[in-house]
Amino acid sequence: MAETMGEMKRTGYCGNAGAETGVFPIGKTVTVGGFVKKSRRLGNNLIFIDLRDRTGIVQLAFDDATPRDVFEKALEVRSEYVLMASGVIRAREKANKDIPTGDVEIAVTALKVLAKAETPPFEIVDNSNAGEELRLKYRYLDLRRSELQKNLLLRNKVTKICRDYFYENGFIEVDTPCLMKSTPEGARDYLVPSRIHPGEFYALPQSPQIYKQLLMIAGMDRYVQFAKCFRDEDLRADRQPEFMQIDLEMSFASVDDILNVAEGMIRDLFAKVLNVEIPTPLPRMSYTEAMERFGSDKPDTRFGNEITDVTKLFSDTTFPVFASVIENGGVIKAVNIKNAATVYTRKEMDKLTEYAKGIGAGGLPYIRWAEDAPNCSFGKFLSEEQLSALLSAVNAEKGDIILFSAGKASKALSLLGALRNVTAAKLGIIPDKFNFMWVVDFPFFEWNEDASRWDAMHHPFTMPKDECLQYLESSPEKVFAKAFDLVVNGVELSSGSIRITDFELQQKMFSLLGLTPEEIESKFGFLVDAYRYGAPPHGGLGIGFERLLMIITGAESIRDVIAFPKVQNASELMSGCPSPVDTESLDILGIAVKNG
Ligand code: AMO
Repeated sequence: MAETMGEMKRTGYCGNAGAETGVFPIGKTVTVGGFVKKSRRLGNNLIFIDLRDRTGIVQLAFDDATPRDVFEKALEVRSEYVLMASGVIRAREKANKDIPTGDVEIAVTALKVLAKAETPPFEIVDNSNAGEELRLKYRYLDLRRSELQKNLLLRNKVTKICRDYFYENGFIEVDTPCLMKSTPEGARDYLVPSRIHPGEFYALPQSPQIYKQLLMIAGMDRYVQFAKCFRDEDLRADRQPEFMQIDLEMSFASVDDILNVAEGMIRDLFAKVLNVEIPTPLPRMSYTEAMERFGSDKPDTRFGNEITDVTKLFSDTTFPVFASVIENGGVIKAVNIKNAATVYTRKEMDKLTEYAKGIGAGGLPYIRWAEDAPNCSFGKFLSEEQLSALLSAVNAEKGDIILFSAGKASKALSLLGALRNVTAAKLGIIPDKFNFMWVVDFPFFEWNEDASRWDAMHHPFTMPKDECLQYLESSPEKVFAKAFDLVVNGVELSSGSIRITDFELQQKMFSLLGLTPEEIESKFGFLVDAYRYGAPPHGGLGIGFERLLMIITGAESIRDVIAFPKVQNASELMSGCPSPVDTESLDILGIAVKNG
C-alpha cells in the first residue's frame, strides 16, 4: 500500500530550488512533490534522487545525517515513483551546471512514497529514441518528458496572451455549438447521429464560420473564440482531424482593420513569448504575384530562387514537349536553384526527377551548370543562342541548376514552387527567422476539374472585390475576393475574408457555385434569411492555433503541441479510438454497419 500525504503539505515546486530563484534559498525548509527521474546509491551511506515536476528537477540527498527510517525508505525508491519530501535546502558539494537548480540540493528529513510505478515501457528522457507509436500509446508518460511539458506550458501562455489581447481590443468570447448543421468548408464533416431523430445527423463544426457571421447579425460587434474544429481530411505533418482555431469576426470592419488586429496579436505574442520583434505592418502580396514568383499561395520568402516565365524564349522551340505545351496555350516556367550543382549530382537530379513525378510532373527538364559548359537535359533541342538567352533570363552562373516546368500555368508554377522548397531545405539555405506576410486578393472561384464546376476557393460567404462583380456570370476566372491568408515561412497560418452581407448577392453566389434553389434553401435557408433582417458589414479570420504553436516552438509535427493527438490514420493510440460500439447502441440510433 502506498502512503498518503497526511499532514505533509507541499510548499513549492522542484524548480523553485536554487540559490538564484530566491524562492527556496539555502537554509530554507521546504516540501516538494514529484516523480523520480532517477535514483543513485553511492556506497552505503549516500543516496541521490532526482525529483521531477512540471517546473524542473531538484536533487534529494540522503546521507549519514538522514534519519534512518527515511534513508531505508529512500533505498526502495525506483524511477517514476511519486514522492513527497521535506528537508532543508543546502549548497551542493559539486554544482551541476546543466540544470537550473544544480547549485543546491534538499537534505531530506521526511519522505513519503505516495505511489509506486512499474518500469515504464520507455525511458522518460528528452530526445527519447523510443518510437512515436509507443510513446503515443502511453501518452501520459510521454507527456512527462520536459520537451512536451514545455510545449503544453507554452500553449497555455500563448492562450493567455492572445485572450488578453482580444479582451483589451474589445472582443468578446462566445461559445458556438459543437453539434451543428453540416456546412461546406471544403473538407468532409464528422457526423453525429441523432437518437431522437433517427436517420438524422449533426455535424461537428469544420469551423464556427456561420455562427460567427450570425453573431455579427446579432450585434455582438467583435467576437473571438478558441474554437475546436473538426475535419475529416487526409492528415499531414501540420493537420489534425481535431484542431483549434482562434476564430474572430468584426463588424463595420475593412480588410485593413482585420489585418491590423491580427498582426497586432502576432506582434504582441512574439514580443512576449520569444522576445522577437515582428515589424508591422506586415508586407502584403497578391495571390497572383505569390504564384508567379514563388509558385505557391503560401510562399516561403526567407530565400530567393524565384520563378521566371520563359515561354517566349521557347516560342520556336523544336523540343516537342515544350512545343506542344505552348501550342495548347500552356506556359514554360523556370527556377534557378543557385549554387546547387555540387549537391545536386546526376544521381541527386534523378532523385529530384522522381520526386517531381511523384507530385504530378511528366518529367523534369533541367540545366546543370557544374562544369565549364552547362549541361542541358534537352540540349539537343537547344541552340547556342537559345541557351545563352535562357541563362541570362534566369541570371544563371556556373554552379547553378535550372529546373523547368511546362503546362497549365497553375500546375507548372505549383510544381516549381514545391521544387524550390525541397531544394532549399536540402541545400540548407533557409535562414532561421520569421517572415510573416499577407497573401491577398485570392481568386473567388477555383475550377474543379473532376466535377467540371467552379468551387469557392475560400468559402461561399466570401465577398468578391467590388470591381469584379461585373464578371460574376461572364468570366468567373476574373473574379477576385476580399480574402486574405496570413503566411509565415511557407505555412498558411490563417485565412479570412470580408463576408457577403447582401442576401441577394449571397444567393447568386450559391447558384453560381452550382447549388439549386432547393439546395440553397435546405442548406443555407436560415443564413440567407438572417441577412434579410439587417446585417452590419463584417469580416474576420481563423488562425490555426496549433500551426502558430509549431512556428513558435519550432516543432516539426503538430502532434508535439497537442496533449492527446491523433496519428496519420486519424486514430488515437492510447485509448484506441475510433472503436466499434455494441449493437444495442447502434439499434437505438437506428444504424446498421455495413461489412462491420
Ligand atoms: P481555413 O479553412 O483556411 O479557414 O482554416 C483556418 C486555419 O486553420 C488552420 N487549419 C488547420 N490546422 C490544423 N489541422 C487542420 N486540419 C487544419 N485545417 C485548417 C490553418 C488555416 O489557415 N472559416 C474560415 C476562416 C474565416 O474565413 O474566418 C476557415 O476555417 O492554419
